[in-house]
Amino acid sequence: MTKSLLVLACGGHGRVVADAATECGYEEIAFLDDAHDTLTPVIGFPVLGPLSLIEQLAASWPNAIAAVGNGAKRQQLFRRLREAGYRTCSIVHPSAVVSRRASVGEGVLVAAGAVINVGAKIGDAAIVNTGARIDHDCIIGSAAHIAPGTTLSGGVTVGERAWLGTGCSVRQGITIGDDVMVGVGAAVVADLTVAGTYAGVPARRLEKHA
Ligand SMILES: CC(C)(COP(=O)(O)OP(=O)(O)OC[C@H]1O[C@@H](n2cnc3c(N)ncnc32)[C@H](O)[C@@H]1OP(=O)(O)O)[C@@H](O)C(=O)NCCC(=O)NCCS
Repeated sequence: MTKSLLVLACGGHGRVVADAATECGYEEIAFLDDAHDTLTPVIGFPVLGPLSLIEQLAASWPNAIAAVGNGAKRQQLFRRLREAGYRTCSIVHPSAVVSRRASVGEGVLVAAGAVINVGAKIGDAAIVNTGARIDHDCIIGSAAHIAPGTTLSGGVTVGERAWLGTGCSVRQGITIGDDVMVGVGAAVVADLTVAGTYAGVPARRLEKHA
């Protein structure tokens, strides 16, 4: 039986997910995207129409993944897929290293070269992006995004929809709250529990966003 996957939507992240899915043996891939009129085909895969088709296509596309970059929107689409009866599968690129003693939720992308170590727990609809490293016992909230090359030391807790920008580093045992945004290259050495945007070494709240 052909392994098929419906990918929402076909921006940069959606294309990374579709590309990784082909490495995981998915043979038939299609996108839904609200800009479908101008977007077909995308990396060789059809764009079937807008996101409003989600409920209608559940019978013919059993597997689907929400693949938009925005965490709140991804979480919302993930829940909608579940309610519509899809299997909300995760895509783990074959070059990623995931400990058998870690757990990965549903609707997650673990991208090429990522490492998830023993005891870590990755929440539903999260992104562990290219080459990110999540060390032992970290807990990553639903729809969080660990961007390319980011390194979490052991025992870090990351809240829902938090976004840890490219190449940032987090000290062991730190807690990062829901909806926290951490800028590229930041060093997080203290808890960031209040939602907002933080950047720099050490990471501090950006005044512009305070
Ligand atoms: C932190 C971030 C969200 C701020 O974006 P922004 O709101 O558009 O902010 P601006 O670019 O206007 O910058 C505001 C100030 O913060 C500084 N700043 C922005 N990002 C910074 C960073 N990562 N580290 C240190 N300082 C930073 C700017 O230099 C500027 O300082 P100034 O006011 O003294 O000139 C953004 O720069 C960032 O790092 N995003 C993460 C992107 C990412 O990881 N993408 C991954 C895709 S997979």
